[in-house]
Amino acid sequence: MLAFPKNFLWGAATAAHQVEGQNCNNDWWDWEQTPGHIKNGDSSRVACDWWGGRWQEDFDRARALGMNAQRIGIEWARLEPRQGEWNAQAVAFYREMISGLRERGLEPFVTLHHFTSPQWVAERGGFENPEISKWLAQYAERAAREFGELATYWITLNEPNVYAYQCYLAGIWLAQKKDFGAFLRVLKNTIRAHAAMYHAVKRARPDAQVGYAHHWRVFEPYNPRSPLDRLMANLRTRVFGQALMTAIEEGRLALPLGLNTPLPEARGTQDFLGVNYYYQEYTAFDVSNTRDVFARSVYDTDVKRLQHFFEGAGNLRPDAFRDLLIRLKIFNKPIYITENGFVETDRDDQARYLVTHLKAVNEAIRGGAVVRGYFWWSLLDNFEWSEGYTPRFGLYRTDYETQQRTLKKAGEVYEKIVRANGITDELTEKFAP
Ligand code: FCB
Repeated sequence: MLAFPKNFLWGAATAAHQVEGQNCNNDWWDWEQTPGHIKNGDSSRVACDWWGGRWQEDFDRARALGMNAQRIGIEWARLEPRQGEWNAQAVAFYREMISGLRERGLEPFVTLHHFTSPQWVAERGGFENPEISKWLAQYAERAAREFGELATYWITLNEPNVYAYQCYLAGIWLAQKKDFGAFLRVLKNTIRAHAAMYHAVKRARPDAQVGYAHHWRVFEPYNPRSPLDRLMANLRTRVFGQALMTAIEEGRLALPLGLNTPLPEARGTQDFLGVNYYYQEYTAFDVSNTRDVFARSVYDTDVKRLQHFFEGAGNLRPDAFRDLLIRLKIFNKPIYITENGFVETDRDDQARYLVTHLKAVNEAIRGGAVVRGYFWWSLLDNFEWSEGYTPRFGLYRTDYETQQRTLKKAGEVYEKIVRANGITDELTEKFAP
């Protein structure tokens, strides 16, 4: 058996807007109302009905699989629907929900901001407005005062790089801009916001463990002998990953965010590394692809087949995941895999992805990476942003008509791993020989 360390945290992840439903005070809800923004004309509507109370039965399900942790989001737009005005009903709701995790023996990991912002924030320019860091810090401090004694682990922002890319460079989400300048400004504002939120949570609860969930994508040159392909892969690695880490670890803005401009308040503002990892991408130089700043992603054939299930899927490379986790040792911080997951297909891909990627985590741990926990994305199928309800990432299948849940093969496999605190030989033989 491939055993995991004692006290390893096993969980699944969700985000407020993707599961709650009726979340109608935020910018994403507004954006959903315009036809064409969400695949198949879907909209979050009731989603998985957590706002209606179904979080209780879903936390029971997490517990039934033997898990001991769960990552959830709280919604800024519910808690502070108008600037400075806190909603008592929303406070009570989240208190009950986070307590509900504790009662079931699930260690809460609480995300403060997962892509969605209140309408009043959007009206003032959202993340393009430098004031955002002040607004988010005030929200974070109040949230940590309201719920601080219930949660040790806090995640400030989810995937600031993906958010900035999708909204300001790729032109796909919300602001739908294709503007490299705006993209860089937003990245800088999110770094400042993260730093301010980190300090805010610590003021309210000094012993809290605070980090952010970084989307780590591994970029490799499509043709390793091509200097241009290598350059493009390095650039993507720098813009998408390194530049943020340098700011948050060392307190300076490195190219292309700045000319090593000092940002002292950001220095050392993570107690752990939150790692979201899904896949690897080959990068090729492509002069015609201005949207992606002259780089193009290359996918293998298996992925092209999978695009049917999830647009934007990259190459499935557990070895790249393992090597990434080992490289992250340089930061000298404990790692929590805050997201890793895959969609349900007509084959056993989801279970295979789970076992092969957990095997990679296990190898990384044996290679010296200090990984303390793993959260599968997601506990149950939910509202997948602009992809709507098509991709099904859950351990449980959600029937959106009846709100019935059914355990999937991947859920059964996860339960076995969680209960054994390791990957049994039987599972390795079957899915990751
Ligand atoms: C991540 C997001 C998460 C979900 C998964 C599939 O980038 O953080 O909300 O959409 O992808």
